[in-house]
Amino acid sequence: MAEKNVLMTGNRGYIGRIMADLFLRSGYNVSGIDAGYFGTNGFAKSMNLRNPKVQLKMDFRDFTDFKGMDAVVHLAGLPNDWAADLNPKMAEELNSKATIDLALRAKAAGVKRFIFASSCSVFGANGDKLISEESKPAPVTPYGFSKLHAEEGLLKLNDDSFTVTCMRNATCYGVSPRMRFDMVLNNLVAYAFVEGKVKVLSDGTAWRPIVHIRDVSVAFLKALEADREVVSGQVFAVGGYNYTVSDIAKIAKAAVPGSMIEFNPQGQKDPRSYNVDFTKIKKALDFSCEWTPEKGAKELYEAYREYGLNKESFQQREFWAGKQLEYLIKNKFVNDKLYLNSTFVD
Ligand SMILES: NC(=O)c1ccc[n+]([C@@H]2O[C@H](COP(=O)([O-])OP(=O)(O)OC[C@H]3O[C@@H](n4cnc5c(N)ncnc54)[C@H](O)[C@@H]3O)[C@@H](O)[C@H]2O)c1
Repeated sequence: MAEKNVLMTGNRGYIGRIMADLFLRSGYNVSGIDAGYFGTNGFAKSMNLRNPKVQLKMDFRDFTDFKGMDAVVHLAGLPNDWAADLNPKMAEELNSKATIDLALRAKAAGVKRFIFASSCSVFGANGDKLISEESKPAPVTPYGFSKLHAEEGLLKLNDDSFTVTCMRNATCYGVSPRMRFDMVLNNLVAYAFVEGKVKVLSDGTAWRPIVHIRDVSVAFLKALEADREVVSGQVFAVGGYNYTVSDIAKIAKAAVPGSMIEFNPQGQKDPRSYNVDFTKIKKALDFSCEWTPEKGAKELYEAYREYGLNKESFQQREFWAGKQLEYLIKNKFVNDKLYLNSTFVD
């Protein structure tokens, strides 16, 4: 365990809550930085997760004290298309420029590794063909572009003293205390649960690889623990299973007794379609998914039952990254640079 002291940005978010717990249980000293855009939505209260001893409620753009840090795991940012579309300029600024600046400061301070949460959205509009890290990226949204630009800038900083690894996460699913309903499996199981109908808004043909947040966390841990030469300057697609949205709808339906699938008759083809080959991460990091979407859908169903999810709570802003950011902007809890001000109490 060479890189023992880990700074994790965005550790109070959907993935971060689970990833920080895994890293802490694996013996790492994790310090967390999170601006606290989302607070807690009271979900999955019974999950017994560890939290970092050092938790800074601040913007990662202001962080400079890297003393003693061996590695940075960077999760913070605008996490999806909806949130990024609200302010594409700031999405580029936060997800790309500020991310590269963070890495520059970390490198100058002697941090050895930087692991970046990128996204399979970088693959973008790639239709049905099987694609990999070697394929030409084709992002179609401000979010996808911001992640691609971040990767490009970060990889330029990679050298013998500073190991950069970009992890292109597939669309996530799974239960977290900072729960989100804006990702396909979480969303479709929730629709099935609260309305009895799995609502497919597109024509359902787009390819979407999906991955459990516990598997993503394991992949990041493996990247941190891998020999430098295995991960130095590398991009990894993180996932294991590709499905069409229709397939995912069938999995959601099977998990929720008595539910049915409802296709939108006007549903359009979603241009964001990518069918990803996950061989590289399997071979390099010996990573494969422990979770299947079928098992994940059952976990979601049980968590929705335990929480007592209903039509109203399903729509609560805290469960949707875009809705919450919209609320923060509208009520001036964030300024035009998306800095959260102290009047926001979560
Ligand atoms: N969830 C997915 O399906 C998915 C898929 C691919 C990639 N990713 C990427 O993984 C990362 C984590 O995703 P998530 O789903 O946990 O998102 P999330 O929105 O739930 O969590 C992000 C956290 O970062 C914090 N944050 C945002 N801007 C900040 C800033 N300027 N300074 C400090 N903290 C800030 C937020 O308060 C939040 O707690 C993101 O970069 C996202 O783009 C997520």
